[in-house]
Order: sequence, then structure tokens, then C-alpha cells
Amino acid sequence: MVSEKMAKALNDQLNYEIYSAYVYASMSSWLKSKNLNGFANWMEIQTKEEMDHASMFYHFLHDAGANVEFDAIPKPKVAWESPKEVFENALEHERGVTRRVNELMDLALAEKDHATNARLQWFITEQLEEEANVLSILQQLELLEGAQPGALFMIDRELGQRTYNPPAAAAGT
Ligand code: FEO
Repeated sequence: MVSEKMAKALNDQLNYEIYSAYVYASMSSWLKSKNLNGFANWMEIQTKEEMDHASMFYHFLHDAGANVEFDAIPKPKVAWESPKEVFENALEHERGVTRRVNELMDLALAEKDHATNARLQWFITEQLEEEANVLSILQQLELLEGAQPGALFMIDRELGQRTYNPPAAAAGT
């Protein structure tokens, strides 16, 4: 069992993960509209991963005897100036998610809630990876400034190689 306070905080995060999926779906759509199909592919996979994260909270809450409530999801931003701005926003977004996951862990520790703590360990590690991946693409885009336009398409080709690998834990228990 998780406390009511912990369940509410985890339920909020479940909804925030769905919002994250919305944010990345919107980015993917904008990139696709610019014919940057590799970038769009990367964001489409990111969208699926966010839904996996939501699913992990969903299963955990049910396993822990709590209920799940779905909230209205705010409309995400729909247009950007450049792929670089997209990835700047993505990095900002992931840093926000990391802060939220850390706050959830603070609460689990304060409540000596070991089950939630164990579940959140996965998210703590995942956030390190999420931030590193987005930062590395952003740094490539920053290096492009002043470079030949063809360089953007090289990154686009590279991002088109990303494949979707759902985490085993997303399947629930
Ligand atoms: Fe669910 Fe990108 O963090």
C-alpha cells in the first residue's frame, strides 16, 4: 500500500508522462512538416517511451492498491523556429521531469516507502539517460551553426536509425 499523499503524487506524474508524450508528439509532427523525417522518427519513439513511463506508473499504482485518475492534458506548443529550438525545449522539459522524479523520491524516502523507492530507482536512472541523449543531439545542432546545410541532413539520417525498444518493466506485473 502507498499513502494517499504518495498515490496522489504518483498519479500526477502518470498524467505528466502523458503530457510529455503529447509534447514530443507535437514536436514530431512539426519536424515531419519540415520534412525532417529522421528527427520526427526520433521524437515519435520518444512519444512511445513517455506512454511506457505512464503505463509503468499505472501498473505500479494498481499493484499498490491505489486508484488511477486521468486528468485533462494541456495543449502542447505546436511550432518552433528551428530543430535546435525543439531540442532546447526538449532538454528543458526533461530537466523538469528529473526535478519531479527527484521530488517523488524525496517523498518516498520521507515516508519510508520502500516499494515506491524501488520503482522510482528505474526512473532516476532513466532520467540521466534522457537528459544525456537530448543534450548530445542539441550539442550536435549547436555545432552546425555556420556549417553547410547538408550537415543537418546527416544528423537527420542518423536519428532516422533510432528504433523503439519498450522497457520490460512497462508491461506491468
Ligand atoms: Fe518520462 Fe522523458 O521522461
